[in-house]
Amino acid sequence: MANASGHFSPSIPSLRKRNNPPCIGIYRYGFPSAEGISKRVFCSSTIQGAEVSPSQSRVPRLISKGCKLVGCGSAVPNLKVSNDDLAKIVDTSDEWISVRTGIHNRYVLTSNDSLTALAAEAAQKALQMAEVDPDDVDLVLLCTSTPEDLFGSATQIQKALGCKNNPLAYDITAACSGFLLGLVSAACYIRGGGFSNVLVIGADALSRYVDWTDRGTCILFGDAAGAVLVQACNSEEDGLFGFDMHSDGDGLRNLNAPIVENEVDRTLGSNGSVLGFPPRRSSYSCIQMKGNEVFRFAVRCVPQSVESSLQKAGLTASSIDWLLLHQANQRILDAVATRLEVPPERVISNLANYGNTSAASIPLALDEAVRGGKVKSGDTIAAAGFGAGLTWGSAIVRWR
Ligand code: UT7
Repeated sequence: MANASGHFSPSIPSLRKRNNPPCIGIYRYGFPSAEGISKRVFCSSTIQGAEVSPSQSRVPRLISKGCKLVGCGSAVPNLKVSNDDLAKIVDTSDEWISVRTGIHNRYVLTSNDSLTALAAEAAQKALQMAEVDPDDVDLVLLCTSTPEDLFGSATQIQKALGCKNNPLAYDITAACSGFLLGLVSAACYIRGGGFSNVLVIGADALSRYVDWTDRGTCILFGDAAGAVLVQACNSEEDGLFGFDMHSDGDGLRNLNAPIVENEVDRTLGSNGSVLGFPPRRSSYSCIQMKGNEVFRFAVRCVPQSVESSLQKAGLTASSIDWLLLHQANQRILDAVATRLEVPPERVISNLANYGNTSAASIPLALDEAVRGGKVKSGDTIAAAGFGAGLTWGSAIVRWR
């Protein structure tokens, strides 16, 4: 089992030791909406003086910085599938799905739709809200487990957005925790890499890997994309206060979609060549899940992770404005909120309309809450993701 945890101060301790004498500064370490602003003395590190020639525009310039969430957007496919629609293809009912999961509808891509286009639409909306030109984006992180190309789809979003400066773009695969990992990665690029505008997109089309005859899984998932623009700022405006991340490969047995050899190609291997060569073509199998086990894991591990992030941020659950969990099951949301003693009115939930949209669920719910006027500027959010891998984690952020 591995874990990574973070306390985002604007300092970079290991580099500080090696390079510069520390300087003293003031770092905002509290929350204006809930606890007022407390100030804390910190040591900051600045690696300056690295000469940047015109041909080396990306030479890292490590300067203590903050990062903040400045725009969000989302998009869902047109096709809406209700519980009653599902009851026509598997042995289930609207009542069972509603009571056990809280889900009523989900949106699903058809064979004519493109997940990449959906992700680009969400990203475009985030850029518009942030009032940032696509040419000023310097990194696109596409968090997805269902890219439309084996080698990833992030570069196609860069292309669709028309980013003329060819920002770095690549995929992050971490299932339903993907967006949280992308967010933390964005912060690291900004803090340590000199990046300024990072698009973090969560987009998934699990409907393409669901066994539509398996009532235990097909009722849960929907397709969507959500995006957030993370922007460099000065340390006093910093909006990412702490994080906590984990993975446990042993848990993969409870939620997976492994590769399988293509049945059609099975006859082609017997050509007298070396046994097992050439390899047969593979594709991914449908999602297999032990729902009860995943449920127990989420209810056990997510509250611990949120508490850890809160502790690193110097906060308590009572001081956050919103709890924003990966939208997997209303019963999981309720159980985690109860453990953290966060009242229902401070829990963001939109899974009734969208189901579990994997890496898209957190930015989709955030976008809806922001555009609906629920989440306001300056609000503090405890966000947590969990899912296949197993992976899970949380982050405490402020909405711009
Ligand atoms: O992103 C993270 C990914 N996954 C999750 O977060 C999933 C977490 N787990 C869950 O959300 C829940 O475990 C499920 C919604 C998947 C299942 O709910 P449950 O309350 O754990 O039900 P269960 O699996 O214990 O099944 C209870 C009964 C079983 O029948 P018997 O054995 O008691 O006769 C199932 O066969 O419900 C049956 N069942 C269904 N009945 C009607 C399972 N699925 C259905 C269904 N409709 N769709």
